[in-house]
Amino acid sequence: MYTRQICRRVASGASRRSFASAASKESSNSIAYLVGAAAAVGGLAYYNSESTNKVASLEKPKDVDQALADLKQIVDSTIAAEIAVEKEKFAKYWPRSIMILFGPPGAGKGTHGPKIENLMGIPQLSTGDMLRAAVAAGTEVGKKAKAVMAAGGLVSDDIVVGIIRDRIKEEDCKFGFILDGFPRTLVQAEALDKMLSEEGSAVSKVIELSVPDSVLEERICGRWIHKKSGRSYHVKFAPPKSMVIGEDGKPVAESMKDDETGEALMQRKDDTSTALVKRLQGYHGETVPILEHYAPNGVVKSVNANQKMNGVWSEILAALSR
Ligand code: AP5
Repeated sequence: MYTRQICRRVASGASRRSFASAASKESSNSIAYLVGAAAAVGGLAYYNSESTNKVASLEKPKDVDQALADLKQIVDSTIAAEIAVEKEKFAKYWPRSIMILFGPPGAGKGTHGPKIENLMGIPQLSTGDMLRAAVAAGTEVGKKAKAVMAAGGLVSDDIVVGIIRDRIKEEDCKFGFILDGFPRTLVQAEALDKMLSEEGSAVSKVIELSVPDSVLEERICGRWIHKKSGRSYHVKFAPPKSMVIGEDGKPVAESMKDDETGEALMQRKDDTSTALVKRLQGYHGETVPILEHYAPNGVVKSVNANQKMNGVWSEILAALSR
């Protein structure tokens, strides 16, 4: 689409003049040649085959390489300027995509969130990852969150709301964001609605990954994570390429490496069957009521997450386009 537009512009006399005047004197003749050639090739691609003759009839100058470099720079900056204008319009007139990825521990939020992030070009904001980073860095927030997280409890609403309030003001959230693990209580949902309404926006989609509790223990206890990227693996469902099974039938810890970087994988402190019981109590007692809170707005889409990962992803794609 863009190539076609640029081709048409290059083919127009006005662009030819402005390109030539923006280039260095030495290469302006060559640019005129290249623009003429591009116009003819554009014509060839989109209009008729006679245009090839126009290329042949142009006199080929000597400093074509320099002219090509100049022309590339001009085309690149023209495209960049046009993209900036379109982005500005988009930010001004289109609502932000504000999505909540919802589901119990082990439902697949961390598995599918990065794929939605790539697809939509908006960041995934995981409160769990942010809190774990705070714990690792030993910040005040981290000190308060550490014990409660390891036991599978919920960190206080004040802390988590404060983290999200600051994060969504950042530049990369301009076009929207995917919330993973937030809101987790009605108090958090109401605080989110309030901060969004202050800027004229609202939650646009809640994707609920629905999975029965009975399959979650196997998923959670078999999970290994690459700490830096958040990439999630599973000893049975998504093993890393390096995994070696020991004589006891369990994976050898030293063999668990990230597929992309080769760095060591780790297991989360709260990924135990004991902590999972508490995490699920919190999910059913405090988090599930959030679905009813958003249901009247028609934004809640449920996905069957109790199937193979590809099937879950297909349903997520359908839910995103609905
Ligand atoms: P958080 O990090 O948000 O954890 P969680 O919600 O418990 O979710 P998980 O990360 O465990 O699950 P997931 O859905 O991402 O699963 P994944 O895709 O990896 O929160 C941690 C803690 O932080 C909380 O307990 C709380 O203390 C605190 N916290 C965070 N936010 C808070 C808030 N807003 N308020 C208060 N406290 C907060 O999948 C799991 C495994 O299953 C993987 O190994 C994966 O490979 C595998 N898998 C995924 N899909 C499939 C499939 N379809 N089939 C087979 N295996 C699969």
